[in-house]
Amino acid sequence: MYNIAVIPGDGTGPEVVREGLKVLEAAAQAVGFRYQTTSFDFGGERYIKTGEVLPPKAIDELRAFDAIYLGAIGHPDVEPGILEKGILLTLRFELDQYINLRPVKLYPHVDCPLKDKGPKEIDFMVVRENTEGLYGGMGGFQYHNTPQEVSTQVHLTTRFGAERAIRYAFELTRKRNRRKQLHLVAKRNVLTYVHDTWWRAFNQVGDAHYPDIKREYAHVDATCMWFVKNPEWFDVIVVENMFGDIITDLGAMIQGGMGIAAGGNINPEGVSMFEPIGGSAPKYTGQNVICPLAAIGALQLLVAEIGEERAASRIEQAVIKALESGKIKSLSAGRMGLTTAQVGDLVASLV
Ligand code: IPM
Ligand code: MN
Repeated sequence: MYNIAVIPGDGTGPEVVREGLKVLEAAAQAVGFRYQTTSFDFGGERYIKTGEVLPPKAIDELRAFDAIYLGAIGHPDVEPGILEKGILLTLRFELDQYINLRPVKLYPHVDCPLKDKGPKEIDFMVVRENTEGLYGGMGGFQYHNTPQEVSTQVHLTTRFGAERAIRYAFELTRKRNRRKQLHLVAKRNVLTYVHDTWWRAFNQVGDAHYPDIKREYAHVDATCMWFVKNPEWFDVIVVENMFGDIITDLGAMIQGGMGIAAGGNINPEGVSMFEPIGGSAPKYTGQNVICPLAAIGALQLLVAEIGEERAASRIEQAVIKALESGKIKSLSAGRMGLTTAQVGDLVASLV
């Protein structure tokens, strides 16, 4: 029996999570596992009402679950940063979800903005370090609000943090068993301290434990170029937090956009949290027009992480069949030709 925490969150989060849960039910019936869900009301509405982002007990409560399914965090009436830092980043840090896993996979019948690139060319995974770097939160102001103001934000890097992300990425590359090639993406020519730590960890771990995996290196700016020009070069990428944040949005666009891009915040030894990466999309809230495939993809990652690989692959096949049916006209909000709920029903019926 799996215990799954659900945080529908803000904006369109609840709408897409509802569809993901339909698909979970269908997958559980198809392969025969049992689960129960517990919903948490964390998000902008709760903050506006109570002034509290996360209740003090929340972290310990969530620790007891097998996985967390998150819709979206972000509210137009709350100043930027409060909910992101107070909920999303706090959960990632406190639950030590040190991997942010983002598959970039173009499915058949999905519009790709790249000319001459199709599903054969776009199929890689980004392993983003999820607890350090510029997200570490170290820094501050001196002489705040004076002409002499000084601000710093430390690019916190530990050998331990880099190494555990690198090991995870090597393992994933081996498990995928495709090109057996792992790219380190960084900016070694400028960030000559922090990315030197990454570079040495990458090579030492690779030499010692992964002779079967081919190592490649790419600067982050060049990587943006290759994502557009030669996405077929990539199999698995390992990257620090901030650069990973940026390149995975570009990755999302080449796989068909925010309607389909999903991610997992993973603690391989603890509780992991899965989310569509598109945010709360306030402008579409409550209209039943947003594409739930990203949330369904997040659910697929969740189901795989708790060990139900067979169910995960049925979900993926169902998504592919739904796309192949031609019934979903576009993945853009309002242009699907179906409602959010109809897309969820369609996928659930194909699991
Ligand atoms: C993401 C988001 C978050 C991040 C924000 C909302 C804090 O952009 O999950 O990629 O920067 O990690
Ligand atoms: Mn991001």
